[in-house]
Order: sequence, then C-alpha cells, then structure tokens
Amino acid sequence: MLPTLRTIGSNLRRSLGLRSLQTSTTLQHDSLFVHRDSPEDNPDIPFEFNEGNKKRAEAILAIYPEGHKRSALIPLLDLAQRQYGWLPISAMHYVADMLNLPRMRVYEVATFYTMFMRKPTGKYHVQVCTTTPCWLRGSDQVMDAIKKNLNLHVGETSKDMMFTISEVECLGACVNAPMVAINDDYYEDLTVQDTNEILNDLKAGRKPKPGPRSGRFASEPLGEPSSLKGEPPAAGFGVRADL
Ligand code: FES
Repeated sequence: MLPTLRTIGSNLRRSLGLRSLQTSTTLQHDSLFVHRDSPEDNPDIPFEFNEGNKKRAEAILAIYPEGHKRSALIPLLDLAQRQYGWLPISAMHYVADMLNLPRMRVYEVATFYTMFMRKPTGKYHVQVCTTTPCWLRGSDQVMDAIKKNLNLHVGETSKDMMFTISEVECLGACVNAPMVAINDDYYEDLTVQDTNEILNDLKAGRKPKPGPRSGRFASEPLGEPSSLKGEPPAAGFGVRADL
C-alpha cells in the first residue's frame, strides 16, 4: 500500500527530530476583540459622562490615592458602559484621558474582560451559563427556549435593540443551576417555562422577580435539610482533654 502524505510528513518530521504538530479546534467567542471603525463606533463620535456620572466618577477616583488613580480604570469603563449601553471606542478614549493613561492600556483591559461589550447591545443582555453544573441541570433546554422565544442566535441582538444573547462560563450560582443573568439580575433554578415567563415579562415591560424560581429563598436545600440538622457542638469540641 502506498504511504499517505500524512505518513510521509510524520516520518520526515521524525527523521529530522521534530515534534509533531498538534492542533485543536478554533476557539470562538461572540465578543469583538479587534476594533474596526464603523458608523456606530469610531473616535469621532462624542462621548462624555453625564452630570450624574461625572459625580460618580469623582467619587470612584477619590477612593484611590494619588499616583494610583489608574486603578479606577475598570469601574470607570463600567460606568461608561452603563451610560452608553455598550463600550464604544470614544468612551475608552474619554476614560484614558481622564486617567492620563495611554489609550493602549485601556484597549488592553476593555478587550480582555468579556463583560465589556464592544458592540451595540440590547437593553436586556441575556447571559446564559452553560458550564458543567448548569449544563447537567438543563442549560441546553434553557438556551434553546431563549433562542426560540427571541428568535435570535448566540451573539445576536434583536432589531429593536431589546435583547442580546451571550453564552457565558460559570457565573458563580451553580447551586441554583441552571441560571441566566439578565443585566444585573440572576434568574435561577430555571425550567423552560420559567425562562419563557421571564422573557415574556420583559417584552411586556414588566420586571420579573430575580432569584430562584423553585420556591427556594437562596441556595438552601429544597425541602427539609438533609445534613447539619443537629445543634452545633459547643466551643472546644474535639479538643484534647489534657489541653
Ligand atoms: S455552572 Fe452555571 S453558575 Fe456555575
């Protein structure tokens, strides 16, 4: 049988003492990491904090001592994003000027953290956790329900700028899996029905109550406690008698 090109290649690498090349699947993300000027995002679009946010920015800056004001970078970018709805390049330049930082330092931070949205984002940013605990508890069904209800794919924004869907890694509410974060609120212990109710409420201009939908107050056991039921032992429990 004739050797294949792949076999010839690996024999050649071996004879030259080279390690074989491993490749993995291409990583994809729904956030934009490379800036390209566009009509809605270019340095000529003016940006400045409104009066309320100017006061907030001053209060944030006052937290940091002289010489360390640059530590306010993330809170100020967050403030800019909350004001504008997402983070345009002119807001990054505004924050860079405010902190007397090279613009590149701001680009580095804004493109590293996926919580900074670098493209127009809907009024409701629906972030669906699909990491293992949420996945085991049905995040695939929750995600399908969201895509179907909003008629969007992950990374897309509705034409009326009301909803954006993102797929995210663990948001730290695994005990209440599956969950989604919508803006600053967590919705937990979700079923498909809960998910549709939440989205329909938002569409109708209502504010659904955040938190677990299972009847739990927080992350306590569902039903009766199954452990740590007795009185806790008094101080000194388990200490050697001769001490
Ligand atoms: S895995 Fe979803 S919140 Fe942790």
